[in-house]
Parts: sequence; structure tokens; C-alpha cells
Amino acid sequence: MRLRPVRFHDDRPSPATMQEEVLQGLASRPKRIAPKFFYDERGSRLFDAICELPEYYLTRTEMGILESCAPEVARLAGADCTLIELGSGASKKIRLLLEALRPRHYLGIDISREFLRESVQRLAHDYPWLEVHAACADFAQDFDLPDPAGSGRRLVFFPGSTIGNFEPHEALAFLQRVRRLVQPDGALVIGVDLKKDPKVLHAAYNDGQGVTAAFNLNLLERLRAELNAELDPKNFQHRAFYNAMHGRIEMHLVSRRAQEIRVLGRRFRFEPGETIHTENSYKYSVAEFHALARRAGLQPRQVWLDAAHLFSVHYLSVITRSRPRAA
Ligand code: AVJ
Repeated sequence: MRLRPVRFHDDRPSPATMQEEVLQGLASRPKRIAPKFFYDERGSRLFDAICELPEYYLTRTEMGILESCAPEVARLAGADCTLIELGSGASKKIRLLLEALRPRHYLGIDISREFLRESVQRLAHDYPWLEVHAACADFAQDFDLPDPAGSGRRLVFFPGSTIGNFEPHEALAFLQRVRRLVQPDGALVIGVDLKKDPKVLHAAYNDGQGVTAAFNLNLLERLRAELNAELDPKNFQHRAFYNAMHGRIEMHLVSRRAQEIRVLGRRFRFEPGETIHTENSYKYSVAEFHALARRAGLQPRQVWLDAAHLFSVHYLSVITRSRPRAA
């Protein structure tokens, strides 16, 4: 394949940052590890496999919505924008938007470096008219963007309902950061999974082939490989359930017995049945998400749903106030 230059900015969190975050999470009660640590190379591939599962309706449904709404997104966004994709991963969905929008610049941001490198290289190859940039960064933290040259209006694309990984207050802060990033005239296209029959949700996170379990348990493999962890993954079990009170799927790694694990020389005790909380995946109604967006200074302009109302794609633009308001 012909290689076109891709400008790659590496702002990956250092191993020390991961070590510190993991140790802190294991030392807290209840124990937890943030879901962004799922995505090493194997984790990213397992996630791709999840997206193909019959039970995991999210990816397929969002693709269907994007297929039909892409021309309208292009009309709303106008010509010559800079398209910024957060959590670009395998970057399949972006192709629909690229083809409808024909932006001048594309910037892909992801925490999984080699995965990102490969996928942006493929985009650069497939779309010779596109100037491709990539940045390896953790967008869950405050992030600075490498400024793509000559940027026009900025359109941020945040698919996959990854926003569901954030606590509601973090989701608000995140949307506020995106608003600052795209102001004064930019917009956000975001995929958000909807509240629905808990049975459908439960199946999506407890698939019959055990891919989601492998994805969850891979976190332990990663601790062994990267943090010298001494533990036996067989002593842990995948658990996912819908927490109706919080409106979220929770994923945990459940200790099958009383045990002690070692990570970077530190010891952590588990009671039988004690868990490491590895992920929240919040589900929103359209009204709930609109309220959140407005609080962040983003105006809901359009929302597209699939026929079964499983998933939503929102177009939100910056609310410009003629005069800054007093706090
Ligand atoms: C990428 C965060 C949207 O919450 O559905 C899939 C990750 N976890 N199966 C989700 C995930 C278990 C996914 N997000």
C-alpha cells in the first residue's frame, strides 16, 4: 500500500500515569480500574470483535443511523470543515462522514497508539484528497489539540456511545471541553446509547460467545504484562448487569475466592465475591441527553434514531451568546 504522510502527535499517557492510576484504583473501596485501560492492542481487537456480535446492537445500529443521516450532517456542517474524531479506533464509521462531508482535514485521536497509527494510515491511503493527522491522547483528561493547518469550522465526531463511560458530571465537563474546542461556529456529532428493556442491555454485555468476558478479563492480562502483576485470571470472573437506579451497565471482575494479588510489589486482598469495577456504560433518554448538552452550552439541532429506538445520533452546535454572562 502506498504510504502518504500522516502527521502523528504522540501525547500518550506515560506508563507511570497508568501505574499510578491502577494502584490508586485497586487501593480504593470498592476497587476499580478505569475502562480506558481495556484498550491495549489485544483489547482493541477484542472490542472490534464485540462490535460484530449479534447481541451487541450498538455498533450496527449506529452505522445504520449514520448511513442515512450523513447527508444531513453534511448540510448542517457545511463545506470545508475540519473533522476531529475522538476514540477513532478502527475508524469505520468515520468513512460514512468523510464521504458525505469531504472535509479538508481529518484528525483522529485515540489512546491505543499502534491501532490508531494503522487506521489513520489506511484512511490516508483510501482518501488521497484528505489531509490526515493523528494524535495519541487520553481525551478523558483535559486535552490540547495539535492544530491542523488552516483549520476551518471544527466538527467533532464522538461515536460509539463512549460518552457512556463517563460519570454524568464528567460527561458534562467533557461536553464543555468539546464546546470550547469547536467554538465559535463548530459542532459535535455524538452517538449515545438509549435506555431500553434491561434484557436487551443485559444480552449485549453478556454475549453467548464470551467475547465481552474475554475483553473484561484481558485487563488482568494487561496488568500481568505491563505492571508485573502476580495473579491468576482464572480466579476472576466477568460480570455485567444493568443498574436501573443509575441508568447504567456495570462491568466487574469478580474474585472467585479469597485471594491476594500483587501489582508492582504492592499486595491487594480480595474477599470471595469482591469485585474490581471496570466499566460504567450510562444509557440516556433523548430528553436526558438534551438537558446535559444544553447545560454544557451545546444546542441540540437534530437527533436521529433507528426504527426500534435503540440508539441515537445527535448534532449539537455551540450556543453563542452575544454577550458573556456574569457568573
Ligand atoms: C465503547 C464504551 C461504548 O460501553 O458499550 C462494550 C464498551 N464494554 N462491551 C460500551 C464495551 C463492553 C462500549 N463503549
